[in-house]
Amino acid sequence: MIYLDNHATTACDPRVVAAMLPYFSTNYGNPGSPHALGQQAAEAVARAREQVAALLKAEAAEIVFTSGATEANNLAIIGAALQHESAGGTRRRIVTSVIEHKSVLEPCEYLATRGWEVIRLPVDSHGFVQWDHAERLIDESTLLVTLQAANSEIGTIQDIRSMAKLAHRHGALLHCDAAQAVGKISMNIFDWPVDLLSLSAHKFYGPKGVGALYIRGGGEDQALTPLMRGGSQEYGLRPGTVPVPLIVGMGVAAEVAGNELTIEQQRIWLLRDRLEKEILKAIPTATVNGDLKHRLPHNSSITFRGVEAEALMANLSTVALSTGAACESGSLDPSRVLLAIGRTHDDAFCTVRMGLGRFTTVEEAQRASKEIIDAVQFLRTLLA
Ligand SMILES: Cc1ncc(COP(=O)(O)O)c(C=O)c1O
Repeated sequence: MIYLDNHATTACDPRVVAAMLPYFSTNYGNPGSPHALGQQAAEAVARAREQVAALLKAEAAEIVFTSGATEANNLAIIGAALQHESAGGTRRRIVTSVIEHKSVLEPCEYLATRGWEVIRLPVDSHGFVQWDHAERLIDESTLLVTLQAANSEIGTIQDIRSMAKLAHRHGALLHCDAAQAVGKISMNIFDWPVDLLSLSAHKFYGPKGVGALYIRGGGEDQALTPLMRGGSQEYGLRPGTVPVPLIVGMGVAAEVAGNELTIEQQRIWLLRDRLEKEILKAIPTATVNGDLKHRLPHNSSITFRGVEAEALMANLSTVALSTGAACESGSLDPSRVLLAIGRTHDDAFCTVRMGLGRFTTVEEAQRASKEIIDAVQFLRTLLA
């Protein structure tokens, strides 16, 4: 298969796998144990924490390991709200956008059932949050603004720096779901002065089942109420024995991403642009979604008007791509992201998402574009 679904997940880098292996059956200690095996594991976790922090230019103490971005988003959003409630705070508004991942929208919906006012900012036709709405709706009653770094379908990269400034001007916290951006574009917490940031290792060539929440000022800062109880691991914010092999893998994945990002980003960018150019040349009615300038370098969301994405995918024998977010793949509804940027229902059903990656070769990209073009042309002749 030619794998063009790197937004859904990425293959684990062989360097990551090699680093993880000893921690399954040789250095298998529990980092909480006082003996040598336990201490070796604790040192490995500490090293990984440094590696993840280095990628974000953060302090190691500001990283809390979780099971992924879903858990990090829940901890950030619900944890901040519960903490504010228990401290007797009076802010009751949370501001987010209509194109967030479910793992942001559903915690917000949960808080709405507890009396919080949740505002979902609309986006423009490129997928950028509408700034006039943000300026009007983020105010002194806002506790938290939660905005994604980059969209998993159309790749649009939000102006997180400006949003952080706006939130801070009103004393609100800024949480950023950076699951799709970390390891794909250069970003750090100096350029993006966020308070909380979620990431997931399997989106940047690390293992599945591990992620992290960056917390400005550190996990001991009492800014969040834990969602689970039962242990003091991860400052009590994420109790339970830490998954040492996964954390070691995430650390190496972060280090590799940090070292290779600039070159990798350019290579994938060029490959993506060439793939898109070939498709658009052969099928001039096809249109690209998202912002062409501020877009994830590996992302390509294309609408082939009149050709249903499901039919197109069924006619691709060696190319693995998708219609949208993997967590919404069971849904029969059109993509809410495409509708939010103004695409019609019909167009939304005729859109595919491609995501190139570290292991996509030039030859694979060429074969993929040919196969996609052939399939679209074949389906169009059937409809003519
Ligand atoms: C933007 C965004 N946030 C959060 C997540 C959730 O990540 P995970 O399933 O690894 O917890 C995803 C996964 O697709 C995502 O794309």
